[in-house]
Amino acid sequence: MFKGLVLGIVIGILLLVGCLYLYFSLGFAPVATAAHPMPLERRLAKLALHAYLDKQQHSQPLVPADEANLIAGAKVYKEQCATCHGLPSEPKSAISKGMFPAPPLLFEGVGVTDDEPWETYWKVENGIRMTGMPGFKGQVGEKEIWQVTMLVKNADKITEPVKKELLAGNSTPMSMAMDDMGSAPAKESKPTKETKPSKATKK
Ligand code: HEC
Repeated sequence: MFKGLVLGIVIGILLLVGCLYLYFSLGFAPVATAAHPMPLERRLAKLALHAYLDKQQHSQPLVPADEANLIAGAKVYKEQCATCHGLPSEPKSAISKGMFPAPPLLFEGVGVTDDEPWETYWKVENGIRMTGMPGFKGQVGEKEIWQVTMLVKNADKITEPVKKELLAGNSTPMSMAMDDMGSAPAKESKPTKETKPSKATKK
């Protein structure tokens, strides 16, 4: 009786593993970004992320959310994040439209204004595996990550100067993506004034 039960459980487990293997090996699992999510894919990914984040220490912001820091955050944002997460009232980039999961627009709707800063800081520093969200640790300084964190935390109440900084310079999502090809990565964060053809051009 007991032996039969154990055997049943073992066979059950083997069958389950076998089916999972066939699902992947026979090409049933979605691989294109436009394909439907796998059963439970989103839920399991969310579960794992939240369970992990709950175990992390909740560090306090290194910088206050004052205008100077939000402007500094805007500089980081338009260089490193806008391609995927969009700019206020700008259309989505081709890159962001083609991604799965889709990067949330951080200047539309609630964005991450309802998340605690430590949580956003962690995501920007470490990235989110298998989503396309990069980890910026070692690429962007700790202070800058806090500044951009405070910016997206306060995305629903940015002042005109901050918005201006976000939209200033030649930083439309596509031109940013093109800029990076072949040229040196991580340009200086000085705003460029290349939005319009120089006034010298005559018609
Ligand atoms: C190459 C595209 C890409 C870039 C560049 C990128 N992200 Fe993301 N980001 C994503 C994707 C995709 C997700 C969604 C992940 C998911 O569904 O769990 C995401 C998720 C996030 C989240 C979590 C959103 C939520 O609702 O919980 C935050 C916060 C975030 N990104 C901030 C940033 C910041 C700040 C930058 C720039 C420093 C940045 N990202 C750069 C693609 C990107």
